Amino acid sequence: MKNTKQNKKPAKFVKREIKKEANEPLPEGAALNKSLPAGKGGKKIYQALRGMHDVLPKDEKYWAALYHTAEKLASYYQFARVETPILEEASLFIRSVGKGTDIVDKEMYIFEDRDGTRVALRPEPTAGIVRSYIQHGLWNAPQPVKVWTSGPIFRHDRPQAGRYRQFYQFDFETIGAKDPAMDVELILVAYSIFKDLGISTEVRINSIGDREERARYVAELTNYYRGKRAYLCDDCKNRLSKNPLRLLDCKVEGCQPIKETAPQIIDWLGESSKNYFMKVLEYLDELSIPYLLDHTLVRGLDYYTHTVFEIYESAREADPSAASLTGAQSALAGGGRYDLLAEELGGQSAPAVGFGLGIERAVTVLKALEEKKPGSIPGVVYDVFFAQLGEEAKRRSLKILNELRFSGIRPAFNLFRGSLKAQLETANSLKVPYVLILGQKEVQDKTIIIRDMESGVQEIVDQKKLEAAIKKKLIDRLPK
Ligand code: HAM
Repeated sequence: MKNTKQNKKPAKFVKREIKKEANEPLPEGAALNKSLPAGKGGKKIYQALRGMHDVLPKDEKYWAALYHTAEKLASYYQFARVETPILEEASLFIRSVGKGTDIVDKEMYIFEDRDGTRVALRPEPTAGIVRSYIQHGLWNAPQPVKVWTSGPIFRHDRPQAGRYRQFYQFDFETIGAKDPAMDVELILVAYSIFKDLGISTEVRINSIGDREERARYVAELTNYYRGKRAYLCDDCKNRLSKNPLRLLDCKVEGCQPIKETAPQIIDWLGESSKNYFMKVLEYLDELSIPYLLDHTLVRGLDYYTHTVFEIYESAREADPSAASLTGAQSALAGGGRYDLLAEELGGQSAPAVGFGLGIERAVTVLKALEEKKPGSIPGVVYDVFFAQLGEEAKRRSLKILNELRFSGIRPAFNLFRGSLKAQLETANSLKVPYVLILGQKEVQDKTIIIRDMESGVQEIVDQKKLEAAIKKKLIDRLPK
C-alpha cells in the first residue's frame, strides 16, 4: 500500500472544519454598527463603538450587588484599593503579557499620543499595578502588599457573547510573598464573591512550574505537536512556532483529540514545585472549595509561574440559557502566580499572585439567577415614598427629604411629578409600605400625612414627630 498522507493520519485526528462566525450573537447591549436612520434635521445618530457597551439604569442593581460584595471581601481580607492609569506605555504590556499572546499580538489598543509616546489602553490591570509597586518602592512597605482595583479593560477582540472590547474587571493582587496560603486566599476571595451572591462555581486549577521546568516541558510539547502539524488549525500552527504553551488553550474541535493525548506539565515539575502545588490543593480541600485539576489550563498571559486557575459557573447548576449568554466555556475569573514579573520589569524580586474577575460575565449570571428566582438580587430598598402636592410643598420637600436622610430613613420620591395619582402609582410599583403626603394644608399646619399602603389608613402627624413615627411603624413591621 502506498504511504500517502491520508493513510498515515491517525483515525482520531480529524482536520479542522472551517467554523462559521458570521452569525455569532453579539454581547447584550453591544453596538451593532448598522447604519441607523438619520436623526432630527438629518443629523447622524451615534452608537457606541462595536464591542463596547453602555451600562443602563435597569442593570444598576446587578453592578451594585457585585461592587458591594467585592468591597466587603476586599475589606475583610485587607486588600487596599488602588487606582492606576488606564493608559500606560505600550511596552509595559508587551513585556508583561508577552509577545506571541493573543492580547499582545492582536488585541491591544495602541497609538501614539501627541508627544509621540507609544501608549496602550490597558489590556489587563496587573502590569500597571506591578509598575506602580516598583515605581513607588512598595517593597519597603510591610510585605505582602495586598491591593485591589476595578475599572475598564480594553481588548480589540472579536465581539461575541461574553466578550467585549471594553469590559470591566475586579482585580486583586498580593505582591511580595510566596506561600501556598496566599494563592488560596486569592482563590477564596474570587470564589466567595460568587458564593455570597448565590452563584455556584468551580475552580479549574493547574501548575505550570517555574521557568526551567516549563522550558523543558515546552520542548517536549513542541516535539509532540510538530508530528501532528498537518491536523492543526491555523491558529495552532501559528502557536507552534510562536508560543507552543498556548496550543493547550485551543478550543477548536478538530484539535481536541491531539490536546487530550499531549504530554502533561505536571510530569515535568520538580519536587519543590509539585510540593507547592500539593499544598495549594490541600488548602482548597480544607476550605471545601470544589476544584478540577486541568492540565491544559495555561492562561493567555505569559507572566505566570506555578499556580494558575480559572473560575467557571458550576456545570451542574448552570441554566443552559445562562451558559449560552456567558459563553458556555467562558471563565468568570482567572488568575495565578507571577513570581518573576516584578524583576522582569526592572524591580526587586517580588513573588506575587492575583486574579481578575469579569464583571459583565458575572452580571449575566446574576441576571439569569434573578430570572429563575425573582428577588435573588434585591435592588435598592426604600422605606417610604415621599409625595408632594403644589409649589409650597415642593419647596419644603427637599428640606424634609434631607432630614429623613440624616435619620437613616430611605425615601423614594419624584419631585418632577405633580399629581398625587401618578406619585401613588410610583409608590405602588416600588412596593413601599408607607407614603408620606405633603400638601398645601400640611405645609401651613406643619404636619404630614402617613398613608399605610396596605390598609389605606391615613394618619396626620406633626412634622417634628415624623421621624419617630415612621421609625416606630417600620420597627412594628419587623418579623417578631
Ligand atoms: P484574564 O483571564 O485575561 O486575566 O481576565 C480575567 C477575566 O476577565 C476573565 O476570566 C473574564 O471573566 C474577563 N474577561 C476577559 N476578557 C474579556 C472580554 N473580552 N469581555 C468580557 N470579559 C472578559 C487577566 O486579565 C489577569 N490580569 C488576571 C490576573 C490578575 N492574574 C494575576 N493577577
